[in-house]
Amino acid sequence: MDRTQHWENVYQTQNSTDVSWYEPDPKQSLDLILQVAGESRGRVLDVGGGQSFLVDRLLGTGFEHVAVLDISQTAIESTKARLGERASQVEWIVADITQRDAIGEFDFWHDRAVFHFITYPDDRRHYVGLLKRSLPIGGHFIVGTFAKGGPEHCSGLPICQYDEATMQAELGPSFELVNCSQYKHVTPAGNSQLFFFGVYRKEK
Ligand SMILES: C[S@@+](CC[C@H](N)C(=O)[O-])C[C@H]1O[C@@H](n2cnc3c(N)ncnc32)[C@H](O)[C@@H]1O
Repeated sequence: MDRTQHWENVYQTQNSTDVSWYEPDPKQSLDLILQVAGESRGRVLDVGGGQSFLVDRLLGTGFEHVAVLDISQTAIESTKARLGERASQVEWIVADITQRDAIGEFDFWHDRAVFHFITYPDDRRHYVGLLKRSLPIGGHFIVGTFAKGGPEHCSGLPICQYDEATMQAELGPSFELVNCSQYKHVTPAGNSQLFFFGVYRKEK
């Protein structure tokens, strides 16, 4: 099964509140974005947003432009339906982030639980290349992945775990760490998952 089919199958067969990554309040992500956004509230992209409530919260927080990208059309359609009329305020992009060559310019690129699925080095290089081209100098990358010591699989797929050193190695010298932390996500089934969250500023 290819990536698109895998995620289509997930969103066509599982309830949004049962998947392990479900969180009713994406507070960790929103707090990190708002910390670096300050008063500026520019253009923000949620990569692999799926059915996350982050887009709802971003719309209520005064960003100039909010975009959500996901590989699954079904996930995007269900999030649009949830937002109702407010969906028209969002740019929706159905794409595999490892295949896209351009996406427009964003000040804040958020990714919770997507980068860790990109297990091929060439795909990660493609992702980081696009990230670099899409952020201006001073733009921010806010990323949450499984941490070292965290889960080794998710949704039946292998993942890569990260810490400060390994994430920096992926991003290279163009990105400077602003802050990072570990975070425990509790799944709907009650299991605890250790995440690494990092905030990076594009310097060059
Ligand atoms: C574990 S879920 C996390 C969803 C959301 N970020 C959240 O925190 O609730 C991973 C999401 O990434 C999407 N995804 C996986 N691989 C992708 C890719 N290569 N390009 C774009 N989206 C992808 C999936 O469809 C899914 O919605």
